[in-house]
Amino acid sequence: MNHNLSVDHLTGIKNLPETDIQLIFETADNFKEIINRPIKKVPSLRDITIANLFFENSTRTKLSFELAEKRLSADVVNFSASSSSVSKGESLTDTVNNILAMKIDMVVMRHPGPGAAVFLSKRVNSKIINAGDGAHEHPTQALLDTYSIREKFGDVAGKKIAIVGDILHSRVAVSDILCLQKCGAQVKLCGPKTLMPKFITSMGVEVETDFQKVLEWCDAVNMLRVQHERQDINYFPSLREYTMQYGLTKERLNKIDRPIVVMHPGPINRGVELASDVADSENAIILNQVENGVAVRMAVLYLLAQKTAR
Ligand code: CP
Repeated sequence: MNHNLSVDHLTGIKNLPETDIQLIFETADNFKEIINRPIKKVPSLRDITIANLFFENSTRTKLSFELAEKRLSADVVNFSASSSSVSKGESLTDTVNNILAMKIDMVVMRHPGPGAAVFLSKRVNSKIINAGDGAHEHPTQALLDTYSIREKFGDVAGKKIAIVGDILHSRVAVSDILCLQKCGAQVKLCGPKTLMPKFITSMGVEVETDFQKVLEWCDAVNMLRVQHERQDINYFPSLREYTMQYGLTKERLNKIDRPIVVMHPGPINRGVELASDVADSENAIILNQVENGVAVRMAVLYLLAQKTAR
């Protein structure tokens, strides 16, 4: 097993080889064991300074990266667009170059522009980790989702994974499809045709509009949030109708004679795409995903920092 990543930045799953994904998972296994000890902190990233740049809102990803960085003993600075000079017209490159002039080694960035992380990785002298760029990619979410499936089933290869909901606006869907396929899973998508991007079938996934059929097929279902904030037109008649067709309820699950693992990247619209009793049921691994997110992000930060050191 190679102990170095082949990439210098984590901008997406598209260009991440399967061997890198397995290395991240094996490294995350070690960090998961460490963060469950009474003393959770290790000195691995002492003297490494990391900037978390969030040009879009985040709860889980931001907290998870910050916790991962602190568990690794990195020095951490946080920046959010709402309280920065971006609102005064400063460009993305200028903002980041100013921050890098402060000798920052790694940048974790969430940005509304697709390709923002790749853009920066080519222009600034720092390791870039994409924490979500528009509807393009969210690589650490895909890694933690796939890691959680690996943890639950022992292996990802051959597993049948359904991704359901607002695929059109979802960077999670794109990164999940790429990551799951690289690890040998079969992926099926389900949702309203209006929320299914035209390019999606070129990714080698089947699209099914009948939710019950998809549930009968899959081992795990990843329920995506309806992203109202990215919807400038009405993609379906009403939320009530959406929930009737694509909401995951106990009633739907009870029609199937075996348990299905329920996932959600968060934040959940309870009562819309996911009923509360399903979100809180024993088949849901939503909080395991959150816990695994810290270990997986520790692994990504640690492995990229090894490359910084050379
Ligand atoms: N899953 C996810 O990206 O959540 P946040 O938007 O809260 O970071």
